[in-house]
Amino acid sequence: MVKQKGARPLVCGNWKLHHDAAQTRRVIRQLNGLLADQKEVEVVVAPVAVTLACACATAGRGPIAVAAQNAWWASQGAFTGEWSVQHLRELGCRYALVGHSERRALQGESDALVARKAHACLRGGIVPIVCVGETLAQHRQGQTREVLDRQLGAVLRPLSGRLARRLVVAYEPVWAIGTGQAAGPDQINDTLAGLHRTVSGHLGEAVAAQARFLYGGSVSPDNAREFVRQPYVDGLLVGRASLRAESFARLVCRVALVSQESQR
Ligand code: PGA
Repeated sequence: MVKQKGARPLVCGNWKLHHDAAQTRRVIRQLNGLLADQKEVEVVVAPVAVTLACACATAGRGPIAVAAQNAWWASQGAFTGEWSVQHLRELGCRYALVGHSERRALQGESDALVARKAHACLRGGIVPIVCVGETLAQHRQGQTREVLDRQLGAVLRPLSGRLARRLVVAYEPVWAIGTGQAAGPDQINDTLAGLHRTVSGHLGEAVAAQARFLYGGSVSPDNAREFVRQPYVDGLLVGRASLRAESFARLVCRVALVSQESQR
C-alpha cells in the first residue's frame, strides 16, 4: 500500500470552456453548501480563466479550492494572451492544470513547454496538476509506457526533490476523455504504479511517496469508487461530471466513503 496514512484524496473538476461568471458563482455556492461538512476529500474546481477572480471570491475560505486550467512559465514580458503564476497566486488560486491533452493537441503544447509551466508553478507556489496520457493509436501500439515516460520525464529531469514533492500527476488516456469509456481500474492502478516508479527513479522514493497521482477520463459518480479503491490512485480529475454541483458533490461523497473505509 503506497497511500500515506492520513493523505486526503484529491478530486479536481475541470470545467474546460463551460460556465459563465454567473454559473461559476452559482455552482461554487452550491458546492460550498453541499460539501460544507466534508473533510475527507480535497476538492478543487478549475473554471474558465476569465472567471477565476469571481470563482476565488465565491470560494472564499470554504471547502472548495480553485485551479486555473493553464499558466504561463514567465512572470512577465511580451507574451500576449498569457497570465502568470503570480497572477494566479494574487487571485487566490492554489492549483493549475498543466499539459492537458486538449492543450497538447489543440495548442500544440510540447513536453518542453509543459515542463517549463510545471516548474514555474512549483517555484511560484502553485501546485501543478501535470496531465499525461497516450492517444488511442499509441495505446493500440503498446506505446503507453514510453509516451508517459517521455511526458513525465521532461517535467522531472530538471527538478529538485524539494520542489517535486508537491507535484500532482494526472494520468488521462486521451481515448478515455469525454468518451464514456473509462480505463479499467486494474490498468489505471498499474499505470499509476508505473508513474510512481518513474518519479521514484528520477528523484527517489521519498519524493514519489509525497507526490500525488490521479486518474482522469470519463469519471462519474458511478465509477469513481472503484478507481479510488486502487492503492496507487490518490484522486481523480473529472470533466463532464464536475459541471453540475449535485453530480460533482455526489462523486466527492462517494470518494469520501472509500477514504473512510480505508482508514478503519
Ligand atoms: P471527462 O474529462 O471526465 O469529461 O472525460 C476529463 C478531462 O478532460 O479532464
